[in-house]
Amino acid sequence: MFKKIKKAVIPAAGLGTRFLPATKASPKEMLPIVDKPMIQYAVEEAEKCGIKEFIMITGKSKRAIEDHFDSAWELEENLKSKGKESMLAGIQHLLHLQFAFIRQKTPLGLGHAILCSKPFVNDEPFAVLLSDDIIDPDSNLLGKMMQFYNEHQAIVLALQKVPKTEIHRYGVIAGREIKKNFYEITDMVEKPKPSSAPSDIAIIGRYILTPDIFHFIEATSPGKGGEIQLTDALKAILKKGSIYGYLFEGKRYDAGDKLGYLKATVELALKHPVVKDEFKEYLLNKISNLK
Ligand code: G1P
Repeated sequence: MFKKIKKAVIPAAGLGTRFLPATKASPKEMLPIVDKPMIQYAVEEAEKCGIKEFIMITGKSKRAIEDHFDSAWELEENLKSKGKESMLAGIQHLLHLQFAFIRQKTPLGLGHAILCSKPFVNDEPFAVLLSDDIIDPDSNLLGKMMQFYNEHQAIVLALQKVPKTEIHRYGVIAGREIKKNFYEITDMVEKPKPSSAPSDIAIIGRYILTPDIFHFIEATSPGKGGEIQLTDALKAILKKGSIYGYLFEGKRYDAGDKLGYLKATVELALKHPVVKDEFKEYLLNKISNLK
């Protein structure tokens, strides 16, 4: 029976070591990009596609994420009494969404983090968003993947071509293009050496998964880095069924990395309704002084 995608799983249990010391006591996912924490971009992206239920996989030192998506009545009352309507709207517009928080008790990898969501996902298809992959909010990547799912009821992964020098940071696929930008995946490898990568097409942090993934993750042994890899569980599915990929040609920033984080900040500041003009002027000035 066809089931609509109503839920999104957002893994947020990682230690964020690439941002130490900032992430010693605060979650990486709460680092702001302009004026919103990184994880809010992922929630807003899914909300735009009609998803209202979120399952966050968290861990130690991640309680700020829970507070962020909860109501803050003292602050709300304060803003209301001062007539700060737009600020009030800015902290209230996601309050209609439902959030469940599950702790991943041991850092056993992305596959294991997804498995932690099993009791909440049940037997429904669901989206996975990795919040440090920031997708241009003006693109409709997740929407296109969901539409493909609705037509084919199969797993869909977001893909992007990456330079050879970066391929070792990703799950990499082999596949054949079945229609413009859609691939039928034939193989995948988690973080290969550039010399053994099956292509230059990487899996990026958006997935549409079907609930049979849980069974395959349970049967997956630790892989790269000693972790239970989602890529390995997906590869096992390939022996029995089809997995598709959508090649995304829009902008994505790997904000889990310092340089990517800075790029995301600059790009999103240049789109921000309040600061964009002045920031652009500042940048142009700065660049001409750098030359
Ligand atoms: C994870 C996945 C990898 C994927 C990447 C996308 O890796 O394991 O297959 O390509 O996300 O960002 P991570 O970045 O968590 O090491």
